[in-house]
Amino acid sequence: MKIVVIGTGYVGLVSGTCFSEMGNHVTCVDIDSKKIESLKNGILPIFEPGLETMVLKNVASGNLHFTTNLHEVLPDAQIVFIAVGTPMGEDGSADLQYVLAVAKSIGQAIEKRIIVVDKSTVPVGTADKVKATIQQELNNRGVTTEFDVVSNPEFLKEGAAIQDFMKPDRVVVGVASDYAMEKMRQLYAPFCMSHDRFIAMDIRSAEMTKYAANAMLATKISFMNEIANICEKVGADANMVRIGIGSDNRIGYSFIYPGCGYGGSCFPKDVKALKKIAEEHNYKAQLITAVENVNDAQKLVIANKIVAKFGENLQGFTFGIWGLAFKPGTDDMREAPAIYIIKELVKRGAKIQAYDPKATVEAQTHYLKGIENITYVASKYQALENADALVLLTEWKEFRSPDFDEIKTQLKNPIIFDGRNQYNMFNIEEKGFEYYQIGKA
Ligand code: UDX
Repeated sequence: MKIVVIGTGYVGLVSGTCFSEMGNHVTCVDIDSKKIESLKNGILPIFEPGLETMVLKNVASGNLHFTTNLHEVLPDAQIVFIAVGTPMGEDGSADLQYVLAVAKSIGQAIEKRIIVVDKSTVPVGTADKVKATIQQELNNRGVTTEFDVVSNPEFLKEGAAIQDFMKPDRVVVGVASDYAMEKMRQLYAPFCMSHDRFIAMDIRSAEMTKYAANAMLATKISFMNEIANICEKVGADANMVRIGIGSDNRIGYSFIYPGCGYGGSCFPKDVKALKKIAEEHNYKAQLITAVENVNDAQKLVIANKIVAKFGENLQGFTFGIWGLAFKPGTDDMREAPAIYIIKELVKRGAKIQAYDPKATVEAQTHYLKGIENITYVASKYQALENADALVLLTEWKEFRSPDFDEIKTQLKNPIIFDGRNQYNMFNIEEKGFEYYQIGKA
């Protein structure tokens, strides 16, 4: 099939590349000419395992193309994906300006029947707005072609996006016509070879499915973080409680790891947006609001433990931070707990020595830009040189089984604050460490 993907961000680039991998002819479009030039030269704007190899391969084979010229490629396409950003507006709702601007461009360019797919995470009812915007442009031009608007939310995990796309748990498609449903089914058939993972439904339910999935996962995390905080108070161990409840397959083991709060591009934004969508429909989403509040507080739990140990004033103290990215396997720092924790420590006068395998540039140039008293180092042990404690914030594999003797040698004090409960199995207290974790006092 001939496919156009508008937006070469995380979702657009992964989707476009994976469609091309399955033999489709894909053109990825972006208004950012620098980005497109880089992509043409094989330079990717994001780090995602396996993506670069797949991009290079499909560019070489002629299946994958990049351009800034939507008008040139659209008339020929059978399906166009909208995968532009929906940043959080000031009031917490998703800002639709980019989605609707793209819809307008589509209306200005199409000549024959096309399927327009909303891939971006958009509030319920957006497909109707996209449809109306395109129709308006067609009317202005006096063009009478039919077109379909489809909702096809993505469920990609950063760090595992290629795998999630190539072997999805499910493909949710909201459609209003048999024609569009058949075409979408054909497009996704190669991704659902083992069994049918294609779930067709009405458009609004598909739009809502995305928010419900992310809100459910965020709820599991906030629930467990709250249980962990209570465990600390009552003398229980959240790690044991996690195993105890996870063994019930109605609950399951996944997404019940207590930690320093969820971050990333999806959960914080989507939970907020869902709350807003409910509000706009005169419903007060109490549970969703609590999920958000618990998470905001959770991001500071580790900082609070540090303050409890070293005092309110952290002047003269240095902390070695392991991990800046919001989770392992990515250089993404959006809403990362590290941002909040580091800012809190620096505000109290502390010095930071930070190491992350991938996210240092992001931190320096964007998320922690301009903040003094942070030194970025090139190795995990360097971050600990003469530091008062190790603070682990992202559970990268290289932090999982470190050389504890080396940690002790480098640190001024053998103290570890473990925001991801990575070391509770190592009996490190017996090795002479003072150990602070989440969910066990
Ligand atoms: C998520 C969804 O998983 C994906 O389906 C959706 O499309 C986009 O949002 P992602 O943001 O890449 O993907 O990250 P994910 O791996 O789901 O983790 C989100 C956050 O939750 C991370 O900050 C992680 O550290 C935290 N988390 C996860 C916990 O704190 N505890 C857990 O048990 C699981």
